[in-house]
Amino acid sequence: MLQRLTAFVFVHLRARSLAAIAVLATALLSAGAVWADKAAIASAHPLATAAGHEILGKGGNAFDAAVAVAAALSVVEPYASGLGGGGFFLLHRASDRRDVMVDARETAPGRATRNMYLDADGKPNEAMSLHGALAAGIPGTPAGLVWLSQRYGRLPLSVSLAPAIALARDGFPVDGRYASAASWGERLLKADVEAARIFLDDGVAPKEGFRLRQPQLASTLEALASGGHNGFYAGEIAARLLAGVRSRGGIWELDDLTAYRVLEREPTHLRYRNARITCAALPSAGGVVLSESLQILEGFPMGSVSRVERDHLIVEALRRGYQDRARYLGDPAFVTPPARLTTFAYAHTRAASINVSKATPSAELDVLYPLIPEGDNTTHFSIVDAEGNRAAATLSVNLPFGAGVVAGDTGILLNDEMNDFAIAPSTPNAYGLVGGEANAVQPRKRPLSSMAPTFVEDERGVLVLGTPGGSRIISMLLLGVLDYMEHPDVDLERIVGAPRFHHQYLPDRIEYEPSGFAPEWVEGLRAMGHTLQEGKRRWGNMQAVFVDCASGEASAAGDPRGRAGLLF
Ligand code: DON
Repeated sequence: MLQRLTAFVFVHLRARSLAAIAVLATALLSAGAVWADKAAIASAHPLATAAGHEILGKGGNAFDAAVAVAAALSVVEPYASGLGGGGFFLLHRASDRRDVMVDARETAPGRATRNMYLDADGKPNEAMSLHGALAAGIPGTPAGLVWLSQRYGRLPLSVSLAPAIALARDGFPVDGRYASAASWGERLLKADVEAARIFLDDGVAPKEGFRLRQPQLASTLEALASGGHNGFYAGEIAARLLAGVRSRGGIWELDDLTAYRVLEREPTHLRYRNARITCAALPSAGGVVLSESLQILEGFPMGSVSRVERDHLIVEALRRGYQDRARYLGDPAFVTPPARLTTFAYAHTRAASINVSKATPSAELDVLYPLIPEGDNTTHFSIVDAEGNRAAATLSVNLPFGAGVVAGDTGILLNDEMNDFAIAPSTPNAYGLVGGEANAVQPRKRPLSSMAPTFVEDERGVLVLGTPGGSRIISMLLLGVLDYMEHPDVDLERIVGAPRFHHQYLPDRIEYEPSGFAPEWVEGLRAMGHTLQEGKRRWGNMQAVFVDCASGEASAAGDPRGRAGLLF
């Protein structure tokens, strides 16, 4: 066994004999399956990656490891995800080659109303959807962990949650990213006695190396381990959660918690050239926007145009995909988006309006009705095990430290995912996204998301990837997929580290990563009529693994932006 620990990626290798590799790889390849000779985990924190490997070492599969990694991330990256948040798990089970998305997205509380974030004059009050208990949706991550463990795992929760419980109880030294996030969120955290007590050091943002202990969160994790779903959504933890939320002006009811269920959904399947891509389904916009954008691009000779022309086409494809996100997409239990959005015929008609040498102003694309802008911080991990199972999850509490409120003595930090709804017409959310009626607030509805764990399969193998980044998640994935498809060699470090740019229909501008692009690139796109702006926020934290189907080798890579230590 060979183990390699880098700053953020810990690749675990389980050697097998070469003869066995050859026989099995041939057999499984002919069946269209991909078998990995070893496991690989890419996550945003080395302690979470180590937790996943510990569980694999105890006989767990990729799904048990996903439970361990997600739970550990909720402890070591409390600003990014947690038991108080939600997200999507994209799974591939090797035994029957089933792909499924476990939707553990938050739901709006039953007492939520479409105008709940408007003030007395009817003006949107975005702060209410971002800070404080009213900003919090009903958490989905605890239910997701239980579901994964009981339906797909092979170890009990008491084993897969043990590393997270130990990290919460014994504490761990915080890294530069924690210090940076806490400094960003200091004011928010100070406003809540419990949040300040747990996440700050004597009322100020801790420095790197500070030991963060979360004994109450450890007890809540233990309740989840011993009681399963009901250990969180009913009984004592539920009562304490409710009391904490209500004392801070929240509107949760016990019913909201007892009624919460994860939903299994058929992922979005698409083809791009010779690759089969599996991506998150609604209420993530990821699959639809990725599908529409890639199918638009399929009609253009991407390999034989200049770099500027290529990126212009990508921007125009994204512009159209994100426009449809804004006008049509929302929770599928409440709205039915037109089925045509993911068809090649529709992409073809959308592609027809693209001028290959000139930007199409977003205002010239038909806007059907007033759009409502939606609501940055999150985590992604990708896992493959030696049996060929895969788990990719993007999990969030939305902005760093979510709503900034810890519910009573549960140690649970509430999310502010309600900001991902379109809170009012023409009011962009925290990511500048606009949305329509389809994503208006409604009781028990799931806010539209951009989180999009993704598998890409072709004759070379399987790429499992995803990233945080709010509205830019989907464009970052698109660039990752294109990088994979455009190069004969698979260089994971190149894929996760490639310079990024983004367009989301509105605001009508290309955001690009400072220092990522030559002045000629900027000038070339300006000459085509685009408006460009340097995007100063951090550009994601992509976590990818790749299984090479010829050799069975699995490798992992973490985004250099995550390794840089700074969150913003
Ligand atoms: O669900 C969504 O799309 C957002 N709540 C994700 C937030 C995010 O990725 C922030 N990352 N930096």
